[in-house]
Amino acid sequence: MVFQATTSAPVNIACIKYWGKRDTTLILPTNSSLSVTLDQDHLRSTTSSRADPSFTSDRLWLNAKEEIIKDGGRMSTCIKEMKRLRKQLVEDTDPNAPKLSTYHVHIASYNNFPTAAGLASSASGFAALVSSLAALYSLPCPPTTLSLIARQGSGSACRSLQGGFVAWEQGSQPTGLDSHAVQIAPESHWPTLHALICVVNDAKKGTSSTSGMQRTVETSPLLQHRIKNVVPQRMVDISKAILDKDFDAFARITMADSNQFHAVALDTTPPIFYMNDVSRAIIAVVEEYNRVWVEKTGKVKAAYTFDAGPNAVIYTEGENVKEIIEIIVRFFPQQETFKDPFGLFANDGGLKE
Ligand code: PMV
Repeated sequence: MVFQATTSAPVNIACIKYWGKRDTTLILPTNSSLSVTLDQDHLRSTTSSRADPSFTSDRLWLNAKEEIIKDGGRMSTCIKEMKRLRKQLVEDTDPNAPKLSTYHVHIASYNNFPTAAGLASSASGFAALVSSLAALYSLPCPPTTLSLIARQGSGSACRSLQGGFVAWEQGSQPTGLDSHAVQIAPESHWPTLHALICVVNDAKKGTSSTSGMQRTVETSPLLQHRIKNVVPQRMVDISKAILDKDFDAFARITMADSNQFHAVALDTTPPIFYMNDVSRAIIAVVEEYNRVWVEKTGKVKAAYTFDAGPNAVIYTEGENVKEIIEIIVRFFPQQETFKDPFGLFANDGGLKE
């Protein structure tokens, strides 16, 4: 009998950023965070896992290249935890269940986008790993339980096991059992919300989120202010904006939080710069676009956000997608052929009517 499962998990893009750990082993954050999970069709990790009594060790291939699974490292913790759940929830309750928890696993994972370029590849990667092992092991667990394990792979991964709008509640228990992801609203709640991914640079980032966060926690006074006085209210306000489908409030909070995250990175010693000149030019273009709309209607129409890298994500509603892509392409001409995922452009480079 072959024991194998394949699943995919999408990237999520945070509107309220996670930055800072209070426990680096269990990966417990210094603040709650909230993100939008993108749909499966675009940026995703697909992972296959297989258990077999003939395997002599756990092994992992990432984008077809074998990676070492370090003993005691995050990958090995996730695999160990999933085997523990298999034993506890399936094998100990059903004497006929195959003892898969005693077999080694081989895991192959593939990202359909650049790895480690500030496009949240670790989030989709660990979420896909956990969901593929959950399928392999037939675990009867809700996503919130699985999020406790994905979190130990990469914090933000806990938010990629559910679609739509997902909060990662920081929790207060030292065990981390209450530091998990909960869905605020499914994707179907706000289908007109779009995320435009602007790849400014797809090279691997200079400062990893792990070392960046550690330095920030150790040195930034602004982080302490953010944790205590800013994020708790923002979590309440953005959840309300999402439930009300209030784009103006959602966008203003998202931009403010991205800017504060990058301010905290700059407040770190030595400072961390994730955005570059192109990132800042994108901010200027979106701010100007919004200024014109605010003059006309009192409301903003687009929100930028940047993770630990120079790439921008622009949230907007469906009716503005075409206009914003046109503006971005006009201000930032492509070095490579523009892929035109929505089929918006005619052959002469102009927009189709
Ligand atoms: O989960 P990590 O270690 O890759 O950290 C992610 C940190 C940010 O992407 C910058 C913010 C977030 O909440 O996703």
